[in-house]
Amino acid sequence: MIKSCSAYHQKTSYARYALKDQVLDWDHPPDLYKTYPVKNRIPLPKVDTLPKADLWHLVQDRSKKKLDPDFDLNFFSQIFLLSYSITARIRYPGHDFYYRTVPSAGALYPSEIYLCTYPIGNTEPGLYHYGIRSQRLTPLRLSDLRDFVATASGIRNYQGLAATFFITGNFFRSAWKYRARAYRYVLLDSGHLVENILLALKSTSVAFTIHYNFKDHELEHLIGLDHKRESCLACIHCWGKEIPSGDGEKNPASLSPEIIGACRVSSHEMIYREIVEIHEAGIKLPGFSSIQVPMIQKIGVSPGEWIQFSVPEKRIRKANYSQAVLYRRSRRNFTKKILSRDTFGNLLSLLFSQFEADLPKTQEFSFPICIGFLAGNIEGWRPGFYLLDLENRKTGLVRPGVFTENMASVCLEQNWLGNAAVHFLFLTNLEAIDRMWGGGYRYTMITSGKLGQMIYLGATALGIGCCGIGALYDDEAKALLGLNKESRLLYLVASGPVRSVEYFD
Ligand SMILES: Cc1cc2nc3c(=O)[nH]c(=O)nc-3n(C[C@H](O)[C@H](O)[C@H](O)COP(=O)(O)O)c2cc1C
Repeated sequence: MIKSCSAYHQKTSYARYALKDQVLDWDHPPDLYKTYPVKNRIPLPKVDTLPKADLWHLVQDRSKKKLDPDFDLNFFSQIFLLSYSITARIRYPGHDFYYRTVPSAGALYPSEIYLCTYPIGNTEPGLYHYGIRSQRLTPLRLSDLRDFVATASGIRNYQGLAATFFITGNFFRSAWKYRARAYRYVLLDSGHLVENILLALKSTSVAFTIHYNFKDHELEHLIGLDHKRESCLACIHCWGKEIPSGDGEKNPASLSPEIIGACRVSSHEMIYREIVEIHEAGIKLPGFSSIQVPMIQKIGVSPGEWIQFSVPEKRIRKANYSQAVLYRRSRRNFTKKILSRDTFGNLLSLLFSQFEADLPKTQEFSFPICIGFLAGNIEGWRPGFYLLDLENRKTGLVRPGVFTENMASVCLEQNWLGNAAVHFLFLTNLEAIDRMWGGGYRYTMITSGKLGQMIYLGATALGIGCCGIGALYDDEAKALLGLNKESRLLYLVASGPVRSVEYFD
């Protein structure tokens, strides 16, 4: 029985799971689009103009002035377009494949978005599923659910609650390929999506809060999720003008078996015990909300000296925020070309700013990640393994040396990674995470995904390549970096000059 994230990681490390020899069941792949047996789906209006904001300004913007938009279909359509929409098509004999605004391990897209609207806005109050391919909202409940959602997500004063986005993860979509290890990817993928939604909301200047700590089974009941197959991983509340609570539903009835059955995405679907156990462990475990000592002091390595980071004077931009979202792709054709000091400095400044901007919204938990990077070929940076002190905007060299090629072989011999100028590393001490509140693992992995999305967007805006890497031998990565026995590399994001980054009009 898996009760901790340390145990789950051990059980699903690639050294034990010989996934390379695995044969995929191509006769029964998961359906990447959910369809509900519901009529009257509502088309989302076309978005005419997109925000022209600079990504860095958007991330740094901490102004208290918030707008109170109409919360109508135009508003939601823009949020969906900028967070989770189709951006590219590839034609195969007999079928087309569509890429999305977010990356996804194996392009299996386990994330779904549900939207709750309340009497405050200009959309009929209810619960809707967002159809990414159809660009339609499917109504699943049409009633005022504000009381129920607020209680289930632990909100006391909810008079200004205007809309809620629920981000769910469908386990089998990813487990079809990655089996029990898939839970890691479902969480990382959803982190990428969460960051996109937060940026999209920020670009409209609406007030919002993000929540990872909620009554899981109550939200699953509300959304109609079969909790062994799909679960709610994060919820984002939007806030508008205050109106007193009305006669909202206190106990919404169960949705029909047909609606709940839509969580099943393949006729040959398997439920992986390890995934159900680690997910349930996250619900049940008590724990503390914070880690007393910053994560940077808990991974077993530290730099000899910390150097203050200064934001480069040269501002490099090839694309604005909206363009970065829509042009983002995983690019693997890294050249061995040097990454300029300014471009790298711009990218680092984005990570520091994201950390600072996120703080007020995540104050209920300590920051669960330590960010490091392997400098391969960066102008002015000695090759080596570095850590970031996010709070004090410092960088420190832990160990000099060229590690990117060794890391490429640790990443299941994805040797092209050796050509990337930099590998960003998201590290954590799993035992410390186990001692956090039950959902600590979810929060940690989603945070890694959020950071990864920021690097993808920053790299795209700077005209360099980027690719997230979840396939790695856990123990070998730990050994290469010299981490202590409880710590692990959770996710790696490679970046650097590539042969080309295309921008379209
Ligand atoms: C959590 C995660 C893990 C990933 N791991 C790998 C990997 O190990 N190797 C790789 O080449 N791509 C990896 N990717 C990139 C996906 O393959 C890519 O996102 C997907 O094919 C969709 O393509 P796109 O990002 O260009 O839209 C990963 C992406 C995510 C989000």
